[in-house]
Amino acid sequence: MTQTVSTAPPPFDPIPWSTLGEAAVGILTTADAERKAHLAQAVGNAWSKGLLAFEFDDVCPPDRPARPPLPELRSHRDMPRRRAGGEKGRFALLHALAHIELNAIDLAFDMIARFGPGMPRAFSHDWVYVGAEEGKHFNLLSDRLNTLSGAYGDLPAHDGLWDAAYSTKENFLARLAVVPMVLEARGLDVTPAMIKKLETVGDDESAALLKIIYEDEKGHVAAGTRWFSSETERLGLDPRTTFHDLVRTYFRGDLKRPFNDAARAAAGLPVSFYEPLAAPSDRK
Ligand SMILES: [Fe+2]
Ligand SMILES: [Fe+2]
Repeated sequence: MTQTVSTAPPPFDPIPWSTLGEAAVGILTTADAERKAHLAQAVGNAWSKGLLAFEFDDVCPPDRPARPPLPELRSHRDMPRRRAGGEKGRFALLHALAHIELNAIDLAFDMIARFGPGMPRAFSHDWVYVGAEEGKHFNLLSDRLNTLSGAYGDLPAHDGLWDAAYSTKENFLARLAVVPMVLEARGLDVTPAMIKKLETVGDDESAALLKIIYEDEKGHVAAGTRWFSSETERLGLDPRTTFHDLVRTYFRGDLKRPFNDAARAAAGLPVSFYEPLAAPSDRK
């Protein structure tokens, strides 16, 4: 995870909030996707300059974040099958990734608004930078969709991405286990193949964006793993068996192989955490 926001200053600077709690809820309740993403980066900038107080007075995060009128949100069952190849297939892939990044912005700021008040300042600090990077990822993908003569919102998007956040809204360790350590770690497994495929068809620009995202996401998994370990240690819990129990309770289904062991190791996620959660027929 980089500790500075690397893109140009966003157009919504200065931000309209003076505390981190207000800023986190403000981003969650912003419906417009582009504005949400720029605000996430602007909050990262403001935090790094010491312009936001570490306060959470009267902070009440919504159960679900505000969403723009488009894309149309559909259940997983009603999503159109993504075409494997061609320009339309690539557009659909980048659109789906942009939608994931939009949700990731909200996941980062929900982590702060919901769990930041009970944790040391360093915890929120990490998630401000995660959130700013998710904003950067959304903007990179959204700009790329525009270059490909379309926009975020042109295709239907999956409505189930907030389910993991909702089901873990009252369990901090479950949130860390399921969101950064399962879902974001899964991103590390699948992204290298997407990059290779984009390069194979000559779309080096999109591949370059995914490489940036891939490197940043290792930091997000690492932050989740680090806080999971320190919190289980503080509570006197065994981190590995606690992780297994929480994932089996809060995550539907088995983890999918193949795992990107090298990237997961770089993020500090031990094999003994995720390997026993793979489907039995799928295990080594
Ligand atoms: Fe991301
Ligand atoms: Fe992430």
